[in-house]
Amino acid sequence: MRVNEKDYRTICLDKKNKYVSIIDQTQLPHKFVIEKLEHPNDFVRAIKDMHVRGAGLIGVTAAYGMYIASLKAPEENFDVYMKSIAQELKSTRPTAVNLAWAVDQQLEEIEKYNFIDSARNALLERANKICEEEVNSCKKIGINGLELITNLSEKKCKKEVNILTHCNAGWLAFVDYGSALSPIYLANKSGIDVHVWVDMTSPWNQGAKLTAWELQQEKVPYTIISDNTGGHLMQKRLVDMVIVGADRVTKKGDVVNKIGTYLKALSAKDNNIPFYVAFPSSTFDWKIENSNYIQIEKRSGEEVKYTQGIDEKGKITRVLLTPKESNALNYAFDITPARLITKLITEKGVFNANKKDILKIYPEHKND
Ligand code: MRU
Repeated sequence: MRVNEKDYRTICLDKKNKYVSIIDQTQLPHKFVIEKLEHPNDFVRAIKDMHVRGAGLIGVTAAYGMYIASLKAPEENFDVYMKSIAQELKSTRPTAVNLAWAVDQQLEEIEKYNFIDSARNALLERANKICEEEVNSCKKIGINGLELITNLSEKKCKKEVNILTHCNAGWLAFVDYGSALSPIYLANKSGIDVHVWVDMTSPWNQGAKLTAWELQQEKVPYTIISDNTGGHLMQKRLVDMVIVGADRVTKKGDVVNKIGTYLKALSAKDNNIPFYVAFPSSTFDWKIENSNYIQIEKRSGEEVKYTQGIDEKGKITRVLLTPKESNALNYAFDITPARLITKLITEKGVFNANKKDILKIYPEHKND
């Protein structure tokens, strides 16, 4: 996607396959900083501290982290070392399934080889494959979701289509294109009159900082709203559709996504507004039927108490919002039950959020 009129991806490996470059998302929208990850600990820290974030991107980052770790691993204890890095990576962010999915694929690669050099090559190839597949899936999500926006635009006699989104499910959450934003980018490029309501997404403010920045770079019209505004806009018929991303989706179609998504789905249902969830198939968790068993990440209460911005001198600063001694609770995700979701959008198509229809599209997972 575009940054200052230049094409970028959120992550890329250097030409000699020795380190990985990422965009440090904690500095956006104020500073565009490229950061180098060259040691396994850099990958663990980058994911934990949200220099990279979003289900798709943390999966790809972890896949490359496993490859880079293999370059540093001691020959005599290669397997033990790799397993401990895998464990560390997985424990950084427990909710988005893409992370464990990518690390487990890398562990399977290691199992296949007796020679360390062969294992390293396989880890590199697999990381590249996971990365490219993510890009292709997001591109196809755009094509599949475009039809929904086109239909609404036709229904409104080509008047502005207002789309509400929560958090950041754009290219910054993946490698390129994004999930929820991918159809919006395509609609905008195709000349459809679109406007995006961007939920700020407290407490990390992924919407206000990242989604707004992405849309600005791609010249898509948008307005930032506080997290409490969506319901009111829906009652006033100022929202035509909602599209959000996902961090984990069960076989039954329940969706785990950024905290606050559930409230938007409730408002959309009450106001008869279509609520879509866009994600690549790698975000399905085929093993969990009951979404109550999913571990919901709890982050530090400090993220609620403090906020970050830029001061008059151009310095990125953190300030305290609350009484210093306050307790603060910070769940990072919530669960939206399938019954509140109009359709799911993946690279395979647009379909209903229920087990029967999901397994029609993914019959290979019937017995998982
Ligand atoms: O905590 P984050 O920023 O990593 O949250 C994950 C997300 O990006 C959102 O929940 C998003 O809507 C899902 S799309 C990958």
